[in-house]
Amino acid sequence: MEYWKWIIVMMVVIISSVWVVIGKKKRKSIKLMKGKSPKGSKGWPFVGETFDFIASGYGASQPLIFMEKRKSLYGSVFKTSILGSDVIVSTEAEMNKVILQNQGNVFIPAYPKSIHELMGENSILQMNGNLHRKLHSLIGNFLRSPLFKSRITPHIQRSVTHRLATWHSQPIIYLQDEVKNITFSILVNVLMSIGPGEELELLKREFQEFIKGLICLPINFPGTTLYKSLKAKERMVKMVGRIIEERQRQNNNSESEEKGAGAANDVVEALLRDNNEEPKLSLETISGNIIEMMIPGEETLPTAITMSVHFLTHSPLALAKLLEENMELKRQKAESGNAYAWTDYMSLSFTQNVISETLRLANIVNAIWRKAVKDVEIKGYLIPKGACVVASLMSVHMDTMNYENPFEFDPWRWEKNGAVASNNRFTPFGGGQRLCPGLELSRLELSIFLHHFVTTYRWEAEKDEIIYFPTVKMRRKLPIRVKAIN
Ligand code: HEM
Repeated sequence: MEYWKWIIVMMVVIISSVWVVIGKKKRKSIKLMKGKSPKGSKGWPFVGETFDFIASGYGASQPLIFMEKRKSLYGSVFKTSILGSDVIVSTEAEMNKVILQNQGNVFIPAYPKSIHELMGENSILQMNGNLHRKLHSLIGNFLRSPLFKSRITPHIQRSVTHRLATWHSQPIIYLQDEVKNITFSILVNVLMSIGPGEELELLKREFQEFIKGLICLPINFPGTTLYKSLKAKERMVKMVGRIIEERQRQNNNSESEEKGAGAANDVVEALLRDNNEEPKLSLETISGNIIEMMIPGEETLPTAITMSVHFLTHSPLALAKLLEENMELKRQKAESGNAYAWTDYMSLSFTQNVISETLRLANIVNAIWRKAVKDVEIKGYLIPKGACVVASLMSVHMDTMNYENPFEFDPWRWEKNGAVASNNRFTPFGGGQRLCPGLELSRLELSIFLHHFVTTYRWEAEKDEIIYFPTVKMRRKLPIRVKAIN
């Protein structure tokens, strides 16, 4: 008995000493950092300041109001508690840059629980380290390559013009939905070369079921949204898995000298071909990622296209200038009989300014969420391990210090600013390690859509408004009536 007592006493002494040493070390490491903790309020127990946050996402107000109010009370970096998490919000370009650059791998992505469940551990949106770097650069290099852009341009053009041709016979067009049909079929072609037909329709249906689970209660049992969404993902993984296996068989069967010759046709091929070095991507990782890449691609780009039409509807001067530039290209092409190249679209300078201004003002991804995996000090602020950090891209895009009259749609401002993707004050596609690999494809699709839309139709839009929660969209899906330009 005596013996056991001594063992217990010794254990208590050892554990407490370790505890004290670790605690001291931690306190010392925090003390060594001279920065301050961000000020702010966590609001009500459990709900925090969530109601305020959600309310500012509806109607005439904007999420910006939530940010601005706290910025004026506590400074440009503040703490709050929203959507079930205590968070540190940055509304500063310099601070956002450090968070996105992520030197020293301090931050990992932080998503709500339902999104966590829906995406695999090996999803590009969640993975970190070497595997993430490899996947990101394989996808980015492929989508950025001039060969890919030349190959995809006629396909995008066909998809846009075929769909546009059906509009003149429709009394009303809900632009947000119509555009989704165009961009989804292009995305699926980019990812795995699936063309129009039954397979595409099936994939579209399953995908729509799948994304319903992205923003829902994280409850998973038969009948719940999350359950149905996970089941749809399982079916999609099988479908995409079959396509990838077939591709790999074709790759293996082809003559060795033919293997890898020429450019990859789609993302699947780019991933299969360049997968010889460690860390290797399993077939399961590739098929999961093909599906997960549809998430950022599916929602963002159609919203950007819809928003560009919304802003142009209310900016007749900008529309007139855009029309003039695009009519001139159309005339040149008709005269020469030459096909459009991707460089023709991208060299329309005013059109590029309209696109930059749309991305700045629409704030489609208005903030980026991260979690700190170690204590860190940034720009004088202490961010403890485990803290959630929100880099508000919108606050920077709408700051009068960065843009004159930031609420105005003014494509001309880019003639002075220059459309610089690397500018810290313009980050619609994020930045650093996770800079959107679909950036150039998105700008190209937007340019092609705008060219054919404005040179084919005039339109009238019914009254509508932008809402910002849970994602940016038009409340009534932007109903328009079109009339062909003779
Ligand atoms: C206007 C359209 C788009 C906008 C505004 C946009 C915005 C963004 C932003 C802000 C991020 C960074 C997220 C973060 O740091 O956590 C991102 C990442 C990503 N985007 Fe886009 N995106 C667009 C279109 C696309 C398209 C068309 C694709 C697919 C072809 C795509 C694929 C991705 C992927 C795979 C990532 C994750 C990259 C990584 O974590 O390494 N995006 N996007």
